[in-house]
Amino acid sequence: MNPDSLKSLSPEELIFSHTPVLPQEVISGLAVRAGGHYLDATVGGGGHTRLILETAPDVKVTALDQDEDALAAAQKELAQFGDRVKFIHTNFAAFNYPPDSYDGILADLGVSSHHLDTPERGFSFRKEANLDMRMNQKQSLTAADVINHWSEADLVDIFFKYGEERLSRRIVRRIVEKRPFKTTTQLADTIASAVPAKYRHGRIHPATRVFQALRIAVNDELKVLETFLAKAPLALAPNGRLVIISFHSLEDRLVKHSLRDSPILQVVTKKPIIATEEEIIQNSRSRSAKLRIAQKVMSAEC
Ligand SMILES: C[S@@+](CC[C@H](N)C(=O)[O-])C[C@H]1O[C@@H](n2cnc3c(N)ncnc32)[C@H](O)[C@@H]1O
Repeated sequence: MNPDSLKSLSPEELIFSHTPVLPQEVISGLAVRAGGHYLDATVGGGGHTRLILETAPDVKVTALDQDEDALAAAQKELAQFGDRVKFIHTNFAAFNYPPDSYDGILADLGVSSHHLDTPERGFSFRKEANLDMRMNQKQSLTAADVINHWSEADLVDIFFKYGEERLSRRIVRRIVEKRPFKTTTQLADTIASAVPAKYRHGRIHPATRVFQALRIAVNDELKVLETFLAKAPLALAPNGRLVIISFHSLEDRLVKHSLRDSPILQVVTKKPIIATEEEIIQNSRSRSAKLRIAQKVMSAEC
């Protein structure tokens, strides 16, 4: 494939199939009730929002996503619910949260199956595509900018911190020698060539951790999650539920500590809820999902 010919698909061409993870656990975690108003901070393909809307005829959802393709697809998918669902194109960190408003807030973090399955978005090293990885296509920073222009020390730092990649130094040295890079597969091949043979034939592709780290850096995922965790509890109505699904330990650690340390939340899940073997067989993405729930409580001073 010629990377220059890679273009974004039009909304009509989009097939946004995303099976929601932990579906029953999310609905019971949110304690969805008739007449309630919920915020889905990561609507994606609309799978969880659909389940929330189907709970009762007068439930309403405000649905956010920073990806215009996702919003367009969710709008189409959820058209039957009319004005019971309102769509807003925004990063959940930049959203203007109205105080004490929602009966429940859901964040199903990270990328969707659509992102991973659409080579043009540059999240996967399995197909050749421009090094992009932006969830918000209006953002200017791409994975190519990070790989080609960040300093050697900064790359080592993000691969180690965000990818927990033990061979960061060795991999970065090879990347710096070979850059500039244009495509996902050029980068993945270079990473594979930089690691010892036993690592190349291991359980996961040697580029997996670096690609995770790059994605986190491009989308500033940990910083926006911290902002979300600071703002979202204030937007919950009394007794409202915050339900968060994370997919790697860095996110889960932030979620766990933030729920535990909040003076206005009470933790509902002492241990995270994980998918059953049955769900993992049907939806492999659920394998690394960790769901945590907290409920808004009023402190004595309120
Ligand atoms: C795992 S998918 C959500 C899938 C959805 N729950 C469903 O059932 O179809 C995550 C979605 O969140 C969006 N997203 C990730 N980080 C975001 C952020 N900081 N602000 C807004 N949307 C975000 C991504 O663009 C993606 O569409």
